[in-house]
Amino acid sequence: MQLVNHGIAEDVINDMRDVTRRFFDLPVTEREVYMSADVSAPVRYGTSFNQTKDGVFCWRDFLKLVCDPNVLSHWPSNSPLDFRKCAVKYAENTKALFLKVAEAVVESLGAVHDGGDQEVVNDENIMTSDEKIEDKIITEVKNGSQFMMLNYYPQCPNPDLTLGIPPHSDFDFLTLLLQDDVNGLQIHHRGDWVGVDVIPNAFVVNVGDLLEIFSNGKYKSVMHRAVVNSFKPRISVASFHSTPIDTIVEPSPKLISSSNPRWYKGTNFSTFLEYIKTSDYKKKNFLESRKLFN
Ligand code: OGA
Ligand code: NI
Repeated sequence: MQLVNHGIAEDVINDMRDVTRRFFDLPVTEREVYMSADVSAPVRYGTSFNQTKDGVFCWRDFLKLVCDPNVLSHWPSNSPLDFRKCAVKYAENTKALFLKVAEAVVESLGAVHDGGDQEVVNDENIMTSDEKIEDKIITEVKNGSQFMMLNYYPQCPNPDLTLGIPPHSDFDFLTLLLQDDVNGLQIHHRGDWVGVDVIPNAFVVNVGDLLEIFSNGKYKSVMHRAVVNSFKPRISVASFHSTPIDTIVEPSPKLISSSNPRWYKGTNFSTFLEYIKTSDYKKKNFLESRKLFN
């Protein structure tokens, strides 16, 4: 799904794309100070999911930023000079937009109190236990973790021989992805790779693994990849939104029944980080490892 008319000012979007481009234009000596082998580092620059382990590198540079006021001091501050200002503004705007989408998604699952229930109309304090759980997920994502991945895909002389980013699903609740004017994102749909054409200033909304788990499989996390081309570099900015890193996400009890049993083990961000430290993270293999049945 692509979101248009989302209310985020064009300036905020353009400034973010622009400052991302200027970051990747910096001399490599300035960029590489952010290199780290630690996948949990608050700021991490690199060229692959995990440089020490991946056999084949992707045709991509990235800068990962954990969006938390406590680690802001680690973010690039004076090169580019306006980096922090633009990135903080952008992170705040995407978080607010994410919350609107998340509320709608949870409501679409029938997992939010709609005011039509008599018990609740008579007395706001009387709620069924399910409703308490539904509200909980919204509170959790409000207080949840956010990080951003600034991606730079250089032109590639042999684009058919490599990928910008290999097939994977995002480990989060929802991702808001901003592309520039160059196509490259593809999603896996009914056995085929389908290009997601650029709509100027739109956000691609990707369902992540945590939403698949919360929805007990009703929403499937989308497998996607990025291809590269020989004529123009490409930039994208992915904003990943999750519950707090230690909060276990479970399938919503409302979406479990005798005909649709619980499909997934409870999972949190720490489980995921542990997984990628020891295993090759590809396709949807982490989510597969959280399934109770196959
Ligand atoms: C990602 C991702 C795709 C893109 O950063 O997780 O899937 O088009 N990016 O850059
Ligand atoms: Ni992704």
